[in-house]
Amino acid sequence: MRDGGLLEELKARLDIVDSISDYVELRRAGQNYKGLCPFHSEKTPSFMVSPDKQIFHCFGCGAGGDIVHFVMKYENLSFQESLKLLAKKAGISLREYRTGNGEDGPREKLLGIHKAAAELFARNLGKSGRAAEYLRERGLAEETIRTFSLGYALKDWHNLSNFLKSKGFPSQLIVQAGVVSSGEKGIYDTFRDRIMFPICDIQGDVIAFGGRVMDDSQPKYLNSPDSPLFKKGETLYGLNYAKEGIRKKGYAVIAEGYFDVVLCHQSGFRNSVAPLGTALTAGHLEKLKRFTKKIVVVFDGDEAGRAAAKRSIPMLLEYMFAAKILLLPDNEDPDSFLRKRGDAAFAALIAKAKGPVDFILGDSGKGRAETVRDAIEILSSAGDMIMKEELIRELSEKSGMRETVIREEIKRADRQRRERLKTKAASPASPSFRYDEELLLLSALLHSPDQLDGVLRIVPVGEFRNPSVSNILGKLSSAGDEKGVKAVLSSLAGEEEELVTRLTFQPGFDPEDLHKNIEDCVRKIRSRKNLERRELIHERIKLAEGKGHDESLVALLRERQKLVREAK
Ligand code: UTP
Ligand code: MN
Repeated sequence: MRDGGLLEELKARLDIVDSISDYVELRRAGQNYKGLCPFHSEKTPSFMVSPDKQIFHCFGCGAGGDIVHFVMKYENLSFQESLKLLAKKAGISLREYRTGNGEDGPREKLLGIHKAAAELFARNLGKSGRAAEYLRERGLAEETIRTFSLGYALKDWHNLSNFLKSKGFPSQLIVQAGVVSSGEKGIYDTFRDRIMFPICDIQGDVIAFGGRVMDDSQPKYLNSPDSPLFKKGETLYGLNYAKEGIRKKGYAVIAEGYFDVVLCHQSGFRNSVAPLGTALTAGHLEKLKRFTKKIVVVFDGDEAGRAAAKRSIPMLLEYMFAAKILLLPDNEDPDSFLRKRGDAAFAALIAKAKGPVDFILGDSGKGRAETVRDAIEILSSAGDMIMKEELIRELSEKSGMRETVIREEIKRADRQRRERLKTKAASPASPSFRYDEELLLLSALLHSPDQLDGVLRIVPVGEFRNPSVSNILGKLSSAGDEKGVKAVLSSLAGEEEELVTRLTFQPGFDPEDLHKNIEDCVRKIRSRKNLERRELIHERIKLAEGKGHDESLVALLRERQKLVREAK
């Protein structure tokens, strides 16, 4: 069931341009809006949103549909789950609508498990003097602990698993969630005797946990394994808390770990996030770019920190982030620095963070030539020419190396990079698209559904070669009035939907020539059909001749004549 009522209500309340703007930076382009497609990697925008039609379409990868399909695809949710998410956004109470059969889907159940687990951990913290004392010693205020819903996993093998089972969650799902493990002797709690950090998605739903021991035992931190809800390499801890702060300050601070984020927020740096024990990945930047493309990345000031900082620059440039790099004094992380030196000192360091050119030039003890060579190698990753130009100018100014020399060297680095890329796989599928007569006819009929009956009388639905075209026309033919047509169009999914959104943005014919276009297409399809039949008859004639079937031969020859006449 498609929840017609709710869907209509959502579409009435949510504007697709506003809603997609939460995910993609959109710019006006004529009647439509344009942006970089979130579904494939691209540098020039081919993702279009139509405020009139309330649909989107990407001409690069072919994705398209309405706002619900956008959310399904972007958030990787089912139709029902997307409706729920959008309803929440639109402030619609779901109780007014019967959604599905009232049963939660697997994703909802996994979220339910995490929510329940976080609640148990928070309660445990209240009961464990030792855990609460640990957090106090590390400088966390009560309010911070509540804000981040920190908790404690008891030193017990079955505290959580029993609790979740008592709430009716099936063992297999609890294990899939990762909070419980399964071994030879059955299932047991994954996290034991650890301070627990709930890890949330952007909506603030708990999707995983990080747990820290309170002594020197190993591993220091344990993270939930990847699950259908959680991809460690793409998740930034604290982003759900930081998104407001990032919007306000206009940039994000990338720290290294859990305590850094929590301490930063407590100290007023509410735009801080951290990857989960990995270096910054493209997946992180994809998440972040919805909120800002300006970041300050904080590293430890030791050799390892410096090297990591340098390694991170090419990717930051490639993704066109305006990134600054902050090296903290040796052996400090934001957490320890803030506690020792306070927030004013930290703010001063952030203000002095260096751009990529300054960082590289100031970085090594190498000679000028070698440093500039390093810089050139790194700057050639810049995502577009404008950014590259700016970096070249800056590098030339600050290094004293002539721009022409830098340009030549960058060209060479580019060539080398292209060679390297050639050997790798080509970019994701950008399906080739050709307007043939069937697609042009469908396009015209979408534009002007009142012509549908007339056309289908001449070319029945079954005569279309393209199964999508034939299916869509079939559905439209029984749609009835304008409202019915709308309902049919919004019920399409997958390839059929993508085809319709594409044709809506780029009809492929001039609306002035609507009737001529329809006539042309119909004629072409009929003459193609005629040709196909003639070929078939030709085969049969040969067969009949071979077998000496005179009677059928006469009938076949007559039919061929008829077809030849028709073709003229
Ligand atoms: P660090 O070892 O630098 O720890 O790891 P930290 O964040 O400063 O933690 P405290 O201050 O000692 O409590 C940085 C991040 O790397 C991940 C965690 O996300 C951690 O916050 N990490 C570290 C792990 O996932 N597992 C580990 O065993 C250690
Ligand atoms: Mn630390």
